[in-house]
Amino acid sequence: MTQHDVLIIGSGAAGLTAALVLAERCKVLVLAKGALDGGSTNWAQGGIAAVLDEGDTFDNHIRDTMIAGAGLNRRETVEFVVEHAPQAIRRLADLGVPFNAEEGSLHLTREGGHSHRRIVHVDDATGAAVQKALLKAATDHPNVTLLPGHACIDLITGRHEAERYSGSGRVWGVYALDEASGRVEAYTARATILATGGAGRVYQFSTAPRGATGDGIAMAWRAGARISNMEMMQFHPTCLYNLEVKNFLITEAVRGEGGRLINPRTGKRFMEFYDAERLELAPRDVVARAIDAEIKRFGLDYVHLDISHMPAEFVRGHFPNIYERLLGLGIDMTRAPIPVVPAQHYTCGGILIDLAGRTDLPGLYAAGECTESGLHGANRLASNSLLECFVFGDAAARDILARWDSFDAPPAVRPWDESRVTDSDEEVVIKQNWTEIRRFMWNYVGIVRTNKRLERAAHRIKLLFDEVNDYYGHFRVSTDLIELRNLLQSAELIVRSARARHESRGLHYNLDYPQTEAAPRDTILVP
Ligand code: FAD
Ligand code: SIN
Repeated sequence: MTQHDVLIIGSGAAGLTAALVLAERCKVLVLAKGALDGGSTNWAQGGIAAVLDEGDTFDNHIRDTMIAGAGLNRRETVEFVVEHAPQAIRRLADLGVPFNAEEGSLHLTREGGHSHRRIVHVDDATGAAVQKALLKAATDHPNVTLLPGHACIDLITGRHEAERYSGSGRVWGVYALDEASGRVEAYTARATILATGGAGRVYQFSTAPRGATGDGIAMAWRAGARISNMEMMQFHPTCLYNLEVKNFLITEAVRGEGGRLINPRTGKRFMEFYDAERLELAPRDVVARAIDAEIKRFGLDYVHLDISHMPAEFVRGHFPNIYERLLGLGIDMTRAPIPVVPAQHYTCGGILIDLAGRTDLPGLYAAGECTESGLHGANRLASNSLLECFVFGDAAARDILARWDSFDAPPAVRPWDESRVTDSDEEVVIKQNWTEIRRFMWNYVGIVRTNKRLERAAHRIKLLFDEVNDYYGHFRVSTDLIELRNLLQSAELIVRSARARHESRGLHYNLDYPQTEAAPRDTILVP
């Protein structure tokens, strides 16, 4: 058993932000499955939203966030995050993130749903620059230990002695699989932060990396924490359509800088039929549904995103990475349109937290995409999520430091029990179930939903639970099995939440309930 002051699960923007604040006063262990830069943070393109221009105001950013979120946001959270954004950007600049600047000020780009230019960025690969700077600072810090290649399985709780979900199911750490040796160890700490990212890979088409399997959400749920608004799955309108490269995002900033959506059959722009005022810069749910409708109506495989009317130098200068990547695939975006389709992109729902990143369970905090903080509501505004990671990573760390004296040292915990399992003889079961979940989630729980489709998905999930639990109970764990179990749990939470919402709002669009209720209501699931 290994014991530290604070345990952080996840080495993306949220986890490393928390680690650096905590390391000022205590010893921190950061666990990550796979590589340290294997999360979504490293893949972020567009940038980070922050009010930095004199013509812009906090009120504007708050209003834009609430409009995109279809009123389901918690205003207190939106204000908290928006007002902390300039400070978060300053901290990143101090860590050496080389934000694009022009004449002494940061260059601000524009994305859908934003009424002003307010996206701070590093070309079209902001996330990689942020991940690199955070990792360097964490690696250099003597109080931070980084442990990649460790897939966490389940939280260690004292809930067998405590009342469930009454606030007393104390969390003491986690059991994690060393992916190299195959050994499972208990890691304990006074406080644990989940920063495990989203559950995007529950869908067949997703812009998210392979490890986005909802592990933190599923672990928190199994430990007894409430989960909120899981039906709010964001689909990005413009993922590259390519038979070989399945999940390459074309940043929204391409539309922000003048890119137009064209129906390849008619050769005409079509957004005017769906949102005459905001056109290509309407919020993502509106644009994704419009593309989906065009594709279905005209029997298309994709639509075109065209920025070739802008000067070639401008396009190459703003989007150097996307330009090169597409060129390698035979598409010169300065001369030709890019074929695009919507794909799952962001998990708006997650572990319910308060403004200090506290979950329902004592000793357990959470930050970033695995949470539902109240910021995004029914649809996330572009480039608000990295921001949420910085603000809540920081808030969780500061709350832990402020309450340090109230956190007891962890007790001895039982070692992982492998006495009743054997090595799997049928790995194919994992692959088959993984593929099946992702396919029916895409077909039945996608951009447009119906009661019948949701019912079908729920039925499939029920059958798969029996199979996966049986497999989990009999065979030694592997990362694939851990992820499959969590993917299935995430799918179940999404479908259950979607069936509980009897209206259409933001990202949740159900043909059987097309109306939006007057009063916004969160879908909160209690274990
Ligand atoms: P991640 O960065 O996803 O990190 C999760 C960490 O948890 C990883 O280290 C992973 O290994 C670890 N982990 C997960 N499960 C386990 C487990 N069981 N055991 C151990 N470790 C585990 N947002 C913006 O604001 N602006 C953008 O421009 C932008 N562009 C994006 C582009 C793409 C292609 C994608 C996919 C997302 C984009 N987003 C953007 C969203 C944003 O990148 C993410 O929401 C954000 O990076 C999430 O950070 P995080 O720290 O919560 O999690
Ligand atoms: C993008 O660059 O389009 C992604 C921005 C985001 O997801 O916030």
